Amino acid sequence: MQTEIIRIEESENIQKLAKIVRRSFELKLPVVVPTETVYGLAAPFNDQDVIESIYKIKNRPSDNPLIVHISNYQQLSLLIKNPVNDNIKKVLNEFWPGPITVLFERSENVPDMVTAGSNLVAIRMPSHRIFKDLIEELGVPLVAPSANLSGKPSPTTAADANEDLEGLVQVIIDGGKSEFGLESTVIKVNEANECLILRPGQITKEMLDPFFSSVKYNMSANSGEKVESPGTKYKHYSPLAKVYLVDEITGFCCDEESSVIITYSTNLKQKNSFFYENEEMLAVDIFSLFRELDRNGVKNIYIEKPKSNIALLNRVMKASEGV
Ligand code: TXA
Ligand code: MG
Repeated sequence: MQTEIIRIEESENIQKLAKIVRRSFELKLPVVVPTETVYGLAAPFNDQDVIESIYKIKNRPSDNPLIVHISNYQQLSLLIKNPVNDNIKKVLNEFWPGPITVLFERSENVPDMVTAGSNLVAIRMPSHRIFKDLIEELGVPLVAPSANLSGKPSPTTAADANEDLEGLVQVIIDGGKSEFGLESTVIKVNEANECLILRPGQITKEMLDPFFSSVKYNMSANSGEKVESPGTKYKHYSPLAKVYLVDEITGFCCDEESSVIITYSTNLKQKNSFFYENEEMLAVDIFSLFRELDRNGVKNIYIEKPKSNIALLNRVMKASEGV
């Protein structure tokens, strides 16, 4: 299968783009879409054949549910069972469109395949102009996991998505480099207005605190006990190279050709070292850097352990554990 990368700068051509996307869906093939977090592999939320094709292409375990992406609040009410309460409304007003996914009780319109049988559906209104306008033009919410083969780092450019999916999809929409570079924050809120962060992301605990009676992390997903967000228990984000987190970087030496070190507090200015001015800048780049280092045959990646960016810490820890 020939894969076409379609470069689109503005959303002016959105009708033309929607036509191309519809044609791909008719052939039961998902399309690669840009988002502000990472690139996604998208299908209409109600088209079981295209969704099945997502699982096959990614080699994704079938018990790992999908996020549904919407472009307006009418679509939200189509997908959820109960009206949104006032507290959650405030949260959505603050952070949508943007990089946060919220779990809701699902309506009967949401197929089992989307939620892997759960009565909860994960929903996000993305801020990426092209993606949001595309959903609006198609008039249907789109499910989209990250557009990588399962276990590989999420793609943050069209070229990185193409590296994994060339020949497996017909259409990759190139919307530039993803603004944030890590997947969305996923939260679940209970009736007492307590918030659980199931996956940390750009929207942090500190940003969520004012809206809830409490905000806690639930990464118990990793313990294999009660799994709140099934995706977090699988091997993720891993480059082929071995990743090591380093607490103390002063005097660190890694001269071998096959090793690199990534820092942000001290510029080592030595061969094979990558310096970022802060953790946020590394977060935007980390997945594309992992891919680049793999292409260059790097065997060992030493990363200065992030101290403040929990989302970045979460991803590099997973990469270092290889879990
Ligand atoms: O930023 C993002 O969220 C990207 C872009 C494309 O939007 N998407 C993404 O999708 O990262 P994916 O499938 O790679 O990760 C979705 C995460 C998984 O950890 C999954 O288990 C969790 O969300 N999730 C989805 N639906 C869920 C549900 N009904 N209940 C619990 N967790 C859910
Ligand atoms: Mg993913």
